[in-house]
Amino acid sequence: MLKGTLFRKKSLDKLISDAQAGTLADAEQKHTLNRTLSVFDLTALGIAAIVGAGIFSTIGNAAYSGGAGVVLLFIFTAIACGFSVVCYAEFASMIPVSGSAYTYAYASFGELFAWIIGWGLIMEYAVGNIVVAISWSDYFTGLLAGYGINFPDYLAMDYFTASSSAAKIKAMLLSGTTLEAIEADTNNAQMLTAFKAYEAAPSILGVKLVCDLPAFLITVIITTVVYIGIQESRTTTNIMVILKIGVVLLVIAVGAFYVQPENWSPFMPNGFGGVMAGVSSVFFAYIGFDAISTTAEECKNPQRDLPRGMIYSLLICTLLYVLIALVLTGMTSYTKLQVGDPLAFVFGAEGVNVPWISGVIAVSAVIAIASVLLVFQLGQPRIWMAMSRDGLLPKAFSTIHPKFKTPSFSTVITGIVVGVPALVVDMNVVTDLTSIGTLFAFLLVSGGVLVLEKTNPTAERKFKIPYINAKWIAPIMVAIIWLGVAVLNQDDVLKFFTIGETPLFEALSSRMPLTIYFIGTLVLAYLSFKHNLSLIPICALLSCGYLISEISNWTWFLIWLAIGLVIYFSYGRKKSKLNLLQ
Ligand code: ALA
Repeated sequence: MLKGTLFRKKSLDKLISDAQAGTLADAEQKHTLNRTLSVFDLTALGIAAIVGAGIFSTIGNAAYSGGAGVVLLFIFTAIACGFSVVCYAEFASMIPVSGSAYTYAYASFGELFAWIIGWGLIMEYAVGNIVVAISWSDYFTGLLAGYGINFPDYLAMDYFTASSSAAKIKAMLLSGTTLEAIEADTNNAQMLTAFKAYEAAPSILGVKLVCDLPAFLITVIITTVVYIGIQESRTTTNIMVILKIGVVLLVIAVGAFYVQPENWSPFMPNGFGGVMAGVSSVFFAYIGFDAISTTAEECKNPQRDLPRGMIYSLLICTLLYVLIALVLTGMTSYTKLQVGDPLAFVFGAEGVNVPWISGVIAVSAVIAIASVLLVFQLGQPRIWMAMSRDGLLPKAFSTIHPKFKTPSFSTVITGIVVGVPALVVDMNVVTDLTSIGTLFAFLLVSGGVLVLEKTNPTAERKFKIPYINAKWIAPIMVAIIWLGVAVLNQDDVLKFFTIGETPLFEALSSRMPLTIYFIGTLVLAYLSFKHNLSLIPICALLSCGYLISEISNWTWFLIWLAIGLVIYFSYGRKKSKLNLLQ
């Protein structure tokens, strides 16, 4: 029989002592975790995990849909992440053990939510790495092309993009548009490349062989490195950070001379909707600061240094990102930026043409993006290990390789989960999934702070979020949000109320996540008023909630959650070590 309630929890003390026991067991099996990391190292680690595919790659899509207005999205996203970062910081100072959001959810909401978060974090780490691998492939093939080596396009793109682009171009040709006319429209550039790749691809049993081979191969290489136990050392991390910041500064400094302010006008060529279409791409660029909370057991003074490391790395990245978004959209027309390697591309664009910089960026990006792949490829098995220690996943997930002393099984599974989809999936879909999964974790962590404030008010917190009473402020903020969103989406709002055009119900259900968000804001305003909740976590919930509601690809995430729940109730809940305590 299942013991305990649906929302059974582990106490804070138990969480900390379990983690210490786990660490001791690890230490006996492999090596003692040294407490060596300082604030500087943690900040560097944060930057190493943050700066990667997002700013080198997915920014292209966001700039294409939003134009220069994407800068505003970078600022808003940074603010939302800033509110969440302080929530993570309070947790990290209270529960200084690895496991990140998974562990925090265990303490605040109980095992079920901890499982959901652990399951959701697969979206951030493993699925996020699919995006990283694909963008690595874009830069790598671009780099080869720079040396005159033309890697076949059909072996460097996903099947679905190629086949759907081919179908669209064929339809245009059938409708009488000439190939010359299609080629003349710059908006069609990406579709045409995919069409040509599809046509050139050989067929096997009637199916075109189109896949992203470099993305698969880099995953295999990095997984092998992680498997045989090369941990990213502090020195490597620091070199990576210098390289990344150096190349970003180079783009900003040199690019600034090529900015033509007319490219910034109109500021939001596709309106507010166009800017918001870039949410997942922009948010993706910020993911990573939370990953440093998994190093809690290796910090000299985790309760003081983890919060600082997270906050500093976020601040530095925000500054770099805003500047780079301004430069990128100022150097060329936003319509040309829908490429996988926008930073290198823009220096080869008409009117700029500084090929040596494109070359430097491409080489640095290939190294920098591979380092993000390494960080997350190391992080995923670590989270699975924590879940397996708690009995929620089979024991195999925490077995340590006798020779290499690494979580071998988890590492191989991570390699498969990342490498195989990287061959075939569309990067935009996986970017959405990653951002939804991570924002979901942010929401639970921010909500968790509010819960623990009530349930464990006296627990020691070395970093405490300054308390500002949200009683009156939260309802006022919610009213402003409602008004702001209505003004920015005027057309949609008008349609909502135009009888006969789009009935209210249809309009609401077509933007279900936003509708749920609005209901959620009312609940938050009510709870803040009633319980005098703390303002900063409320701001995190309101801002991250808004970002998540603007992402449209929810279906896959919900399917993913449903599978997770089935596994929890049929396996994890029965095997959980909590059963031994009840
Ligand atoms: N923020 C990380 C990147 O952009 C995930 O690659």
